[in-house]
Amino acid sequence: MVYKVSGSDLFKQPFIIGSDFKFLNLTDQLRMDFLDSRRQSNAGKVIAVAFFIAGCVVMLKQMYSPSYTTRPTWYITFSQHELGVTHVLVTGGAGYIGSHAALRLLKDSYRVTIVDNLSRGNLGAVKVLHEQFPEPGRLQFIYADLGDAKAVSKIFAENTFDAVMHFAAVAYVGESTMEPLRYYHNITSNTLVVLEAMAAHNVKTLIYSSTCATYGEPVKMPIREETPQLPINPYGKAKKMAEDIIIDFSNTTDMAVMILRYFNVIGSDPEGRLGEAPRPELREHGRISGACFDAARGIIPGLKVKGTDYKTADGTCVRDYIDVTDLVDAHVKALAHAKPRKVGIYNVGTGKGRSVKEFVDACKKATGVEIKVEYLDRRPGDYAEVFSDPSKIKQELNWTAQYTDLQESLKIAWKWQKSHLNGY
Ligand SMILES: NC(=O)c1ccc[n+]([C@@H]2O[C@H](COP(=O)([O-])OP(=O)(O)OC[C@H]3O[C@@H](n4cnc5c(N)ncnc54)[C@H](O)[C@@H]3O)[C@@H](O)[C@H]2O)c1
Repeated sequence: MVYKVSGSDLFKQPFIIGSDFKFLNLTDQLRMDFLDSRRQSNAGKVIAVAFFIAGCVVMLKQMYSPSYTTRPTWYITFSQHELGVTHVLVTGGAGYIGSHAALRLLKDSYRVTIVDNLSRGNLGAVKVLHEQFPEPGRLQFIYADLGDAKAVSKIFAENTFDAVMHFAAVAYVGESTMEPLRYYHNITSNTLVVLEAMAAHNVKTLIYSSTCATYGEPVKMPIREETPQLPINPYGKAKKMAEDIIIDFSNTTDMAVMILRYFNVIGSDPEGRLGEAPRPELREHGRISGACFDAARGIIPGLKVKGTDYKTADGTCVRDYIDVTDLVDAHVKALAHAKPRKVGIYNVGTGKGRSVKEFVDACKKATGVEIKVEYLDRRPGDYAEVFSDPSKIKQELNWTAQYTDLQESLKIAWKWQKSHLNGY
């Protein structure tokens, strides 16, 4: 089942697409009223009900005539192309990166439909977006699971998308080593569902969220787009397979595809509207930024640095931290540069590696909290050193990271965390 809300309807009453049960309920109710009225032998009531039924029959006839729509006006906006308006489907738009991307797209006058099953995202983020852009026809939210091919097909049939930004995914390396099938299903197979729906409904532009985890642990740094992809955990493998499927399919069509391989995403909206709010149960698999804030807030006793014997300068893992504001800027640029029959593949990183120890220091400074740090053994599936060569995206899309001060990015995110102690 697909629930759809938009404009002022948001959070008041879920609208159920494509189900006639409202009308069936109505006629059942009428039949009951009718029988009831017979029991009471109330001729006046019977006549009134009969008139009412006749009215309903006329109304239903009109409803099922080809020209009739039961849908509110905002729905029509999303189901029709409008000259000069680009309608982007943002899958996973209730999540961390997807919500920031939706915010940027809305700010840049795109029309946005978010599809999310809220398994990991927050309806609160969608509410913030709606508050920022309440005008009809700007943003709609559809609650659906991308694993439900029928629901996805229905969404594509009832909306006219110009492009898809496919963010929705489970995205924790550690979790993927414990639940590989879930990852292959959610990432690889759901991407297939999205692609099939795009093909069936003639949607020709795809911006795909991929990851540096598809490279595995290359010997040579920095990582370039041509660096062989040899993923070492199910998360990276599932994303690599999804990439392969997208590329194979796009070779047979005139699709415009941009595959963005993100490095480690941190930070939040500098204006403090959105932040990163993963479910508490995901803490144990969590990302380093979340753990830093949880430790600073005293939710967890301290930080656990997993692995101190990697072949890096200080023995801890080295990562390339990219601010979410820069990342969504890369998406907007990718969308603008997407060309039919072309697949653009880009690393989205700063080009600079920072060790976990450096990160922890920046976290302490940004939060002003003397966080306790525990050094542990390596975590399965982790790799020692990963940082990007972002020169291709600079040359071709004119994109470079602007928010490269780790401490500053964490400070902005910390501000949001402090004012949202229970998430959204
Ligand atoms: N966060 C990072 O550091 C990072 C790094 C590289 C790549 N990525 C990729 O970026 C994308 C977004 O990641 P994020 O950090 O925002 O994660 P997130 O968990 O915050 O957001 C993912 C969203 O997708 C939704 N979702 C998951 N499965 C779904 C399904 N079957 N149907 C509908 N919705 C579904 C979740 O409810 C959630 O709102 C993912 O594809 C991830 O692999 C993230």
